[in-house]
Amino acid sequence: MFIQALFIFPILLLIASSTQASVLDFCVAEPSLPFGPAGYSCKNPANVVVDDFVYNLSAAGNTSNLLKAAVTPAFAPAFPGVNGLGISIARLDFAVGGVIPFHTHPGASEILVVIQGQISTAFISSNDNVVYYKTLYQGDVMVFPQGLLHFQINSGNGPALAYSSFSSANPGLQITDYAMFGNNLPTNIVVKATFLDTLEVKKLKRVFGGTN
Ligand SMILES: *[C@@H]1O[C@H](CO)[C@@H](O)[C@H](O)[C@H]1NC(C)=O
Ligand SMILES: *[C@@H]1O[C@H](CO)[C@@H](O)[C@H](O)[C@H]1NC(C)=O
Repeated sequence: MFIQALFIFPILLLIASSTQASVLDFCVAEPSLPFGPAGYSCKNPANVVVDDFVYNLSAAGNTSNLLKAAVTPAFAPAFPGVNGLGISIARLDFAVGGVIPFHTHPGASEILVVIQGQISTAFISSNDNVVYYKTLYQGDVMVFPQGLLHFQINSGNGPALAYSSFSSANPGLQITDYAMFGNNLPTNIVVKATFLDTLEVKKLKRVFGGTN
């Protein structure tokens, strides 16, 4: 035991020093300054206030929309305190029948906790398209590996509520339907690139706000 501690203690010190390599305790986002691959520039620490680290997700998102669902993100720079910390959160509200259709977060893994209701969800592996599908109930937690396609469906009889945390201050959100059909690519090209028929592509372009 003692011998182990002798070895583990220096390793812990090493980990602590490498994760604390920055001279700054934090880098609260200052959106008026340049944005780079590492995130937003840092606000002058002298001007940082506690409310930079606090965000209010108590309000339900508006689910009167096509998806019957709402994602309320607390990402940088709206939530400036998460900038540079590799973490963020979002509130997911679902009306009856609501869905967050197939989407990806290019920059983050996601961990979701169900607060209310019943949510059926899956992600699909990129190598061999294996589906990992599960229906989740209050208190269930599921993790979605970075970049993989996934969806959430309210499969219960009432509203559903979940919170998702992300391993990035800017996880990104690309909903596949909007990406594929909410654009101005000519219909015949989308038909070719999706194997869908023309009528279906025209319908989806109408639904998701595409043109051409
Ligand atoms: C958070 O927002 C709710 C209403 O959306 C409000 O009732 C509550 O007071 C707010 N909390 C804080 C700490 O501002
Ligand atoms: C929710 O969104 C709908 C559609 O955009 C809008 O008509 C309605 O006023 C919104 N409700 C609230 C409470 O903001």
